[in-house]
Amino acid sequence: MNQTPSLTFASRTSRTLGRFALAIALVVGVGICVPASGQAGGEQNESQIARGFAIVPQGVTLNLEGRNRALVGLGSYIVNTTGCNDCHTHPSYLPGNDPFAGQPEQVNSAQYLTGGRQFGPFTSRNLTPDSTGRPAGLSLTEFMNLMRTGVDPDWTPASGRPQILQVMPWPVFGKKTDRELMAIYEYLSAIPSLPNNPNPGP
Ligand code: HEC
Repeated sequence: MNQTPSLTFASRTSRTLGRFALAIALVVGVGICVPASGQAGGEQNESQIARGFAIVPQGVTLNLEGRNRALVGLGSYIVNTTGCNDCHTHPSYLPGNDPFAGQPEQVNSAQYLTGGRQFGPFTSRNLTPDSTGRPAGLSLTEFMNLMRTGVDPDWTPASGRPQILQVMPWPVFGKKTDRELMAIYEYLSAIPSLPNNPNPGP
């Protein structure tokens, strides 16, 4: 038996109201979901910052004075999960602490990011802050530009090397967001200033 014709005015009205309420609930729900997903992005950022501080290599003491803490944490997360240490610390691990040899890992904190690894004619550079506190002696603008274009700001025709960095994977790193590159710079500003590696090698 088809009951539709016997619907009273009241039940039709309540059905319409019900649909209306559902529509409102959907709109409000979407409204709530948008900030919620924005918040999820914030949480991811927070977890990367926390992770960044947790994975600063043992023996590396950060100087956070005057630094943006969130950027330092994010910068550590990027630097210490992106292989900068593999090319910019020589040797990358302390003797007896090389994870590739199945040993317990301990980054070579005494030479952390001081460069000296050789790639044919090219040697990785010291990324630690210079006497004025600038990582690799670069201003933030120079650093951003170098990461995006590979053009070496220290280059002169007399330097005898190409103007564009040849080993450093800048075409990949240069695709990061401004905030991520700024975070790398902030972290490199906070690590200990160390002299160039006295024992460059392969
Ligand atoms: C595959 C090895 C490799 C990796 C990985 C690498 N670099 Fe480099 N980087 C080099 C080498 C070698 C140079 C010297 C220039 C050249 O020949 O490319 C250099 C140069 C640089 C310079 C220029 C310094 C100056 O004084 O002008 C900066 C800054 C730099 N690297 C930052 C980084 C950061 C930050 C990371 C990690 C996100 C990183 N590099 C990862 C090999 C590497």
